[in-house]
Amino acid sequence: MTVNDRIFSEARKHLVGGVNSPVRAFKAVGGAPPFIRRAKGPYLWDAAGRKYLDFIGGWGPHLLGHGHPGILAAARKALARGTSYGLPTEGEVELAKALKGALPSLELVRLVNSGTEATMSAIRLARGATGRDFILKFDGCYHGHADGLLAAAGSGLATFGIPASPGVPDAFARLTLIIPYNDLPALRAIFRKSGRKIAAVIVEPVVGNMGVIEPQPGFLQALREETRRTGTILILDEVMTGFRVAWGGAQRKYGITPDLTTLGKVIGGGFPVGAYGGRADLMKRLSPEGPVYQAGTLSGNPVAVAAGIAALAALGRADYGALAETTGAFCDGIREAARDRGVRVAVNAVCGMFTVFFGAGPIVTAADARRCDTKRYARFFNTLRKRRVLFPPSQFEAAFLSFAHGPRELAFALRAIRESL
Ligand SMILES: Cc1ncc(COP(=O)(O)O)c(C=O)c1O
Repeated sequence: MTVNDRIFSEARKHLVGGVNSPVRAFKAVGGAPPFIRRAKGPYLWDAAGRKYLDFIGGWGPHLLGHGHPGILAAARKALARGTSYGLPTEGEVELAKALKGALPSLELVRLVNSGTEATMSAIRLARGATGRDFILKFDGCYHGHADGLLAAAGSGLATFGIPASPGVPDAFARLTLIIPYNDLPALRAIFRKSGRKIAAVIVEPVVGNMGVIEPQPGFLQALREETRRTGTILILDEVMTGFRVAWGGAQRKYGITPDLTTLGKVIGGGFPVGAYGGRADLMKRLSPEGPVYQAGTLSGNPVAVAAGIAALAALGRADYGALAETTGAFCDGIREAARDRGVRVAVNAVCGMFTVFFGAGPIVTAADARRCDTKRYARFFNTLRKRRVLFPPSQFEAAFLSFAHGPRELAFALRAIRESL
């Protein structure tokens, strides 16, 4: 039994499945997850002292690499002044200003503690503002674990949601309409039929949660057109893409102005911070200015906020063009290695995030992603892990690059990938 096996076995006696978030259990690939002791730059060290080149990136936050000195210093300084006050601080104003500086669609901001809190609160606000109950989401997009967002698609062009989790009442799931991502005819059809009943559309502008899938040309634009025509609130869920695919997120990259945006991950520098914001007339419907209620004891926590400000300050100086190029070149390297080995893969990538699908491309919908060979992905993952390269333990999770992944690390990873393929 290895050290990690032993800890995992102990963990399972005390924590459900041994973990505090299901994906960490590595169920899709088998075996114990590595229990992490420390991290630095692009590397993680597990309880057995093994060093891994990390492509999980904390599931998104660590765009600057682990333990960024600016973030650590800011958090330490804030910590010395106390852990939380439950009263407002100047730091919260500063973080809101930094978010607004990068995303001009944010006229007013509310800070929360997670991506889930941001998305569920944005939906409540959209419902409160429109007086409508239905929401529309896309098959395969993940927006956190709130009840109405845990609905899976049935078959057909557009279908009422069926709960994907016991505990979600049918009545809630029925309010979630689902259509395939990147499916323009389905989008036009559902808006023709039900547009004026839909409070909000929530979408990952680049999907990370069925593996990486880019919006097809015109898809986000059509979404903006239809929502505007029908008075539906457009929520871009940038919890993953915000400050990752570009400074200013996917909305800047693809030129879409949403009504509301949800953020998380990168904006907390590895601490629990989420945010939502957008049109002032909508945001002013939130308590204490308006009647829609949402609150949080630890929202805007001073240590987390200080870390977020430091992360955004560093990212404001970062070269996203270079990261996009690095991502492209790295993914070309994977494609070339697969070609040489006669393995059919489709590699989808957008600045700082990518997925290796074992199957024929193009992968543009959740159905395409589901058709790929996930068992082969699991074998690939496990062989890579033996070579000390840690990919996400599921094909349906995005792999992340950071600004700390340099040429040496990427050459090491490509060698390991070539051998593993
Ligand atoms: C696009 C998107 N929205 C929302 C969430 C939920 O965020 P959190 O896990 O911080 O609650 C995630 C998490 O992976 C996400 O990727």
